[in-house]
Order: sequence, then C-alpha cells, then structure tokens
Amino acid sequence: MDASALAFTKIRQEFPGPGSAPPTCVLDGVSFAVREGEFIAVIGPSGCGKSTLLQMAAGLLVPTGGQVLHRGRPVAGVNREVGFVPQQAQLFPWKTLAENVELPLLLRGVAPAERRVRVAQALAAVDLDGFEHHFPNQLSGGMQKRGSIARTLIYRPDVILMDEPFGALDAQTRMVMQSDLQTLAIDARASVLFITHDIAEAVLLADRVVVLSQRPSRMLADVAIDLPRPRNVFEPFRNPGYEAAYEEVWSRFRTQIALGSRVH
Ligand SMILES: Nc1ncnc2c1ncn2[C@@H]1O[C@H](COP(=O)(O)OP(=O)(O)OP(=O)(O)O)[C@@H](O)[C@H]1O
Ligand SMILES: [Mg+2]
Repeated sequence: MDASALAFTKIRQEFPGPGSAPPTCVLDGVSFAVREGEFIAVIGPSGCGKSTLLQMAAGLLVPTGGQVLHRGRPVAGVNREVGFVPQQAQLFPWKTLAENVELPLLLRGVAPAERRVRVAQALAAVDLDGFEHHFPNQLSGGMQKRGSIARTLIYRPDVILMDEPFGALDAQTRMVMQSDLQTLAIDARASVLFITHDIAEAVLLADRVVVLSQRPSRMLADVAIDLPRPRNVFEPFRNPGYEAAYEEVWSRFRTQIALGSRVH
C-alpha cells in the first residue's frame, strides 16, 4: 500500500472537444506523490492541467485513466478530508466573511464558543480582522482570496491543496502570506500540494518542484529543493543555494515557454 499523503499514478485526462471536434488530451501519464508532511509545488504552462490534477485530488473529477490515492485509498467522490483552496475564490455571496470562514467548523459540529475564537484567529492570520461583517462583494479580490484561504485553513486539514492561492494578491501581502504559510505548514506538519506560475515562489516554499510540460502534459522534472528552513521569503537571495535551485527549475521550465530571442 502507498503510504503517501497523495499519490498520482499514470494520470491521463481527456476532455471531449466542442461539437464533433476530437477530444483534447490534457494529461498524459503523470505520476508523482506527496509524502507525509511534504510541500510539493507544481509549475507548468497555462492550460497544461494543473487545476485538473487538484480537482482529481479533491474528488471533483475522475481521471480518464490512472488513479489518485489519498493515504493509500482511491479517491472516490468528494474528498472532504483534504483542504482545497480553488483558483477562483468561492465565498458564498449571501454570507458575511465571518460566516463563510466559520462554515467548515459548523459542518463539523464545533461548539459556538470555540467557533468564535477560531474564526477570529483565522481572520487575524490573513489580516482581515475588522471585516467580519462584510459580504464578499464589499471586499477586494485579494481580500476575498485571503478569506477563502482562511476558510480552508480553519479546520486544520492535514492535506492542503492550493491552486495559485497568492496569484491575485499584491506583492507585499503575497510575501507575508508565503511566510505565514511556510510557518503554518511546518508547525502543522501538513502535506501541501501547491500550484503556482511563479518559479521563485515554488523554490522558496517547496521541498520538491514538479515541472509539467505543455499539453498533452507529461512530467518534465521533479526537482528537490534542499534549502535550509525556515527560508527568507522577503529576501530570496539571502537563502544559501537559492540561485542554483532557481536556475535548475528554470532550465527545465524554459523549454516550455516561447521565448524566441528574449533570453540567452
Ligand atoms: N470540464 C472541462 N471540459 C473541457 N475541457 C476542460 C475542462 N476542464 C479543463 N479543460 C481543459 O483542460 C486544459 C487544462 O485545464 P486546467 O484548468 O487544468 O489548466 P491549468 O494548468 O490549471 O491552467 P492555468 O495555469 O491557466 O490555470 C485546458 O485546455 C482546459 O480547456
Ligand atoms: Mg489552473
């Protein structure tokens, strides 16, 4: 039995084309695992199937071929044991921010007094205290995104799926969130599968970076990032070994981007 937190084995995904168009093969034999307590970042060109992989782990999509194991068991149906921060913040528009963030605790039968304390902690952790009673349409895009992160982390899932969680944030908030996520993941010994477009972010946060190719997507590389922790996300160049790790990931990824003569 596979004891990994999550294991993707020979994942293949085809989507039907529109009308009579042939199907599109998105993922073609992708295999990798997230071991217990490990932080894996996945990078790959837009449209290569990164969000599709997370949807499979969350149990929202059954792959055309291959299988996804969560703690050795096939994912079948919606996987409520993993925390999922989707690419688009999806707060319920008719609920306040505090009600949105509280929801996972309500569903798990946590007592009201504890719910209040944990909601306050979760909102403070993403710097949203004072906005408890705002509705999502009264928050900026970045604030909604942080609310969606608070809603996932509040129930302390031990496997966390994050789809470009910091992409919509301003550069300063993003660094603070990266730093907090690093601390949180280490403290909670959480296993994290983290999608990003940002090589620097992948190198700063991850134990391993999985690089995917263009569609039909295959694994190009699985790069171990052996920088000491905790890492300084505010001044990346101060981490010993950072430049070499960045270079290694970039050398694999650059083949997938049309650069022409832009870089030598
Ligand atoms: N339900 C669906 N039906 C048909 N095609 C789909 C469906 N979901 C995804 N696709 C296609 O699969 C491909 C991969 O989509 P996916 O959202 O996984 O990409 P991605 O790597 O997350 O891209 P991005 O970096 O832009 O977020 C795209 O070409 C998309 O059009
Ligand atoms: Mg995506």
